[in-house]
Amino acid sequence: MTRSTEGQSGTVLAGSPADGPMVRVEDLRRSYGTGAAAVHALRGVSFEVPRGELVALKGRSGSGKTTLLNLVGGLDAPDGGRITVGGTDLAGLDEDGLLELRRDRIGFIFQSFGLIPILTAAENVGVPMRLRKTDPHEREERVALLLSLVGLGDHTRQRPGELSGGQQQRVAIARALANRPAFLIADEPTGQLDAETGLAVMQLLRAVVRSEGVTVLVATHDPQLLSFADRVLELSDGHIVEHV
Ligand SMILES: Nc1ncnc2c1ncn2[C@@H]1O[C@H](COP(=O)(O)OP(=O)(O)OP(=O)(O)O)[C@@H](O)[C@H]1O
Ligand SMILES: [Mg+2]
Repeated sequence: MTRSTEGQSGTVLAGSPADGPMVRVEDLRRSYGTGAAAVHALRGVSFEVPRGELVALKGRSGSGKTTLLNLVGGLDAPDGGRITVGGTDLAGLDEDGLLELRRDRIGFIFQSFGLIPILTAAENVGVPMRLRKTDPHEREERVALLLSLVGLGDHTRQRPGELSGGQQQRVAIARALANRPAFLIADEPTGQLDAETGLAVMQLLRAVVRSEGVTVLVATHDPQLLSFADRVLELSDGHIVEHV
């Protein structure tokens, strides 16, 4: 392992399964707006994501899945409640601490891929490592390894516009893994893909949980994909129901 141990979040997240769950959420609340127009997206949500598991988050459109993932990833702050990621209480991190956590320890995958159009597949995967000033040789080696892991070893020089949707999402998965995150957050990663391609992407995520030892929290409303999960959380009326 070449997992870096510099920085506060670095040492905290590089733990073993004995260190407790990857994510612990307690009585989480988040509303949008005020007064009669307020939307109470999360009304006291509690759950855990054990290390090394793939946990699916389901719920109808508007049930609060994206809201919850953004909070767990430190992209948004809650109105109440507590979130710990790898034992670190997110409320205790300042902006720089959150930035470091997101850059070094959490990988994000979005429904819309989020690739940079003018960069090749390889350059896109390399971006998080550039932000972290990883040695160029090490970066190139890891980019090649990740692109072959996601089955795109022959497409490294193509730009997103020259790749299919499924291929673009696989580039995005490779990019999310670039800095060896302990934790992957995926928001409807198969939402823009056909059923067969979505299945392949989900299988890839499943494989990555094994090969890279990461923990995954993935929002999906595709019932076909729930079978890949170790456990399923359902958001309904601002609360979580767990299906093990
Ligand atoms: N920035 C915002 N301002 C106001 N309301 C918001 C905002 N973001 C989300 N909401 C509201 O909060 C609720 C939860 O939205 P959220 O995006 O978390 O749902 P979701 O489960 O991800 O839905 P989908 O499956 O369609 O992606 C919705 O009622 C939505 O309209
Ligand atoms: Mg959403």
